[in-house]
Amino acid sequence: MDKLNRVRIADILKMQSFGQTINVKGWVRTKRGSKTVSFIALNDGTIIHNLQIVAELANFDEEVMKQITTGACISVNGVVVESFGQGQHVEIQAKEIEVLGTADPLTYPLQKKGHSLEYLREIAHLRPRTNTFGAVFRIRHNMAMAIHTFFHERGFYYFHTPIITASDCEGAGQMFQVTTMNLYDLKKDENGAIDYTNDFFGKQASLTVSGQLEGELAAMALGAVYTFGPTFRAENSNTPRHLAEFWMIEPEVAFNDIFDNMQLAEDFIKYCVKWALDNCMDDLAFLAEHFDKELISRLQSVVECEFVRLPYTEGVRILEEAVANGHTFEFPVGWGTDLASEHERFLVENHFKKPVILTDYPKEIKAFYMKQNEDGKTVRAMDVLFPKIGEIIGGSERESDLDKLSKRIEEMNIPMKDMWWYLDTRRFGTAPHAGFGLGFERLLLFVTGMANIRDVIPFPRTPNNAEF
Ligand code: 4AD
Ligand code: MG
Repeated sequence: MDKLNRVRIADILKMQSFGQTINVKGWVRTKRGSKTVSFIALNDGTIIHNLQIVAELANFDEEVMKQITTGACISVNGVVVESFGQGQHVEIQAKEIEVLGTADPLTYPLQKKGHSLEYLREIAHLRPRTNTFGAVFRIRHNMAMAIHTFFHERGFYYFHTPIITASDCEGAGQMFQVTTMNLYDLKKDENGAIDYTNDFFGKQASLTVSGQLEGELAAMALGAVYTFGPTFRAENSNTPRHLAEFWMIEPEVAFNDIFDNMQLAEDFIKYCVKWALDNCMDDLAFLAEHFDKELISRLQSVVECEFVRLPYTEGVRILEEAVANGHTFEFPVGWGTDLASEHERFLVENHFKKPVILTDYPKEIKAFYMKQNEDGKTVRAMDVLFPKIGEIIGGSERESDLDKLSKRIEEMNIPMKDMWWYLDTRRFGTAPHAGFGLGFERLLLFVTGMANIRDVIPFPRTPNNAEF
């Protein structure tokens, strides 16, 4: 076969001039035709749309044509011609075809007909070849680009915090342990406690639940930073919104208070959603058509509306009023309790009908590092609540006073000796600062309209599932 430059299908479909001979490579989606001609729908992942390849059977070996089945990979040299068929304006008149990889129709797990999302999760190694997951993963890439661009344009530095850590930032005790110890032969001391001095790090270590604490160290030097990396939580919650391994974006900014923090969060999410509308319309239109008719109008409304800012106490009052007026929730609501997803969604979807930033939560239900309010009861926390999702962002202004922070650490029984480096920021040149964490997959749930978080990450890790 002649060696020609390969052109991406995304670029071929944009061509306005015809007659040139090019090479195209991709995976066969379907083949149909008659006794004299075959029409092959080819996809190379560069765009959701397929390219039509027209092959006059008289010009090709019958054995080669037989190998061109759904899932096979082919290389085609052919002429770009104007198409008068439906749904496309260019197609390729094939001159030479080489089969790079066959796919036995009897065993290839993806058929032409649509499959359920549940089935596709079982073949997560092949699901990127479907329209749905091609769209989701192209959008996922675009959101990562939007995030880096947003922060770079605003003078933030991308700071890499460790994946392996000895501190539990959220204090929720949901960490996966990292060890090289022989689990069949664990050494224990006289009190029956495990002796970690011989473990790889000489102490107990785990996978991080958040890069925040190290992010704060960086903010006290570089001013404005963000992290963007994998985080791990051994929460045994099998919900459509929780993963054991998820990606989190955590900006941290010196001199910001909670109001600056809320504005940053609002600007940030709007920027990402607008990026999707500006750059991913083909994929969004596909997802809207197949999964969620209101997707695009919902994205547009978030870009245009102003997020509500509401103290927790006020939020609880609205929820209690709803209960008094006959609304039933599965979980009880009252001042001091953490809000369940149903409560968050009630505020966003039923009451305000737009995103809500809930602030000033009771200190008992929030992490040790949050700035304490004068009232002695609440902290300067902020959760951003979204339609269909519930909590998409969690953050706060940080407690910058050494004494108040140390007291809180003691009250919460966090081992003080492990926190010396964190407390040093408050000892030396402490400053007001604030930050938050955006769950990358929660953002993707919102932007793609997918209903289950397992369908917006290539290889989901959840309880009892670490396949692929
Ligand atoms: O609210 P969280 O626990 O906050 C923190 O970790 C802070 N250290 C962030 C900070 O202030 N720098 O988590 C932040 C976000 C949540 O709002 C949610 O979007 C996401 O991370 N998240 C999860 N996403 C998927 N699966 C899970 N198990 C998640 N847990 C939290
Ligand atoms: Mg949270």
